[in-house]
Amino acid sequence: MSRYLVTGGAGFIGSHLVDRLLAQGDRVRVLDDFSTGKTANLGEDRKGLETVQACVTSEPDIAAAVVGIDGIFHLAALPSVARSVVAPLETHHINATGGLNILNQARKSGVKVVFAGSSSAYGDQEAEYKSEELREDPLSPYAASKLAGELYCRSFARVYDLPVVVTRFFNVYGPRQVPDSPYSGVIAAFCLAMLRGEAPRIDGDGRQSRDFTYVEDVTRAMTMAMKKSFAGPVTMNIACGESHDLLEMLSILKDYSGSSREPEYATARTGDVRHSLADMALAEKMLDFKAEVSFREGLERTYDWYKREYS
Ligand SMILES: NC(=O)c1ccc[n+]([C@@H]2O[C@H](COP(=O)([O-])OP(=O)(O)OC[C@H]3O[C@@H](n4cnc5c(N)ncnc54)[C@H](O)[C@@H]3O)[C@@H](O)[C@H]2O)c1
Repeated sequence: MSRYLVTGGAGFIGSHLVDRLLAQGDRVRVLDDFSTGKTANLGEDRKGLETVQACVTSEPDIAAAVVGIDGIFHLAALPSVARSVVAPLETHHINATGGLNILNQARKSGVKVVFAGSSSAYGDQEAEYKSEELREDPLSPYAASKLAGELYCRSFARVYDLPVVVTRFFNVYGPRQVPDSPYSGVIAAFCLAMLRGEAPRIDGDGRQSRDFTYVEDVTRAMTMAMKKSFAGPVTMNIACGESHDLLEMLSILKDYSGSSREPEYATARTGDVRHSLADMALAEKMLDFKAEVSFREGLERTYDWYKREYS
């Protein structure tokens, strides 16, 4: 049994990670400011779960939160490209300064950190597969703020010998992703539109593609990364290694839900990349990780969840 701190544990990915850790018998302290995270994501009175409401940028709160902890999963962030374009300073403060604060407290207590990185670090490069060896080229303030956190991870591993793994997620989807905010993930937003009989909105021509990854595969990879020891800093992609465009995704969802609504098209969003596909060789080699949930299966599970919760 280990004790873990999960920042952002009341959010979409964080709450699935909490489920996994509790299910394997670990104890979990969630630190979240509940700005987008929900108590409902954590359930009630769960054995082994403790919740702290605090901001990741607060030094005293993080210092207190790491006491008695064996490892930190850092997921708290403002995870929106669109919001970062409107509010770059706030995004930097929470994502970069907040990340640095976590690392600083981790090195004081000598606690390992698994850090939620983002494929947005790659930007819009020509390479078909985004490999960790590519030079990063962030487009949006969000991407830059997440990459700043990653760079601090690398420097803390080198300067303080802090064990750190950056898991770079691609497009994560699944139950509990907020579907009705202007910053919602596209699969969540499409599921909700279909359930409401509304037209799904596609920004751009719908041919932009993503390496969509089911949330349970992501949390499994994070726990594997926590358990395994590495020499020096590690940054690895966590995804499926498959590319699907929005029109294909929409067609699977329409098929499954029986919806006949055609999409509405809007202008492509500033700061969005056109294609995003992970090279998964490193995670396969270092963690023996392979995504297990197929795209169709993941979409069906996700749609079923939104149907239960929203209709
Ligand atoms: N969802 C994706 O596709 C994706 C892709 C790449 C990277 N990521 C990264 O994964 C992590 C989790 O993303 P998510 O999709 O679950 O988002 P989410 O918004 O559901 O979760 C973020 C959580 O952080 C909390 N939070 C925000 N600001 C905070 C603060 N100042 N102090 C404490 N808690 C704060 C929120 O309340 C929320 O519970 C983020 O770091 C994000 O950048 C997500």
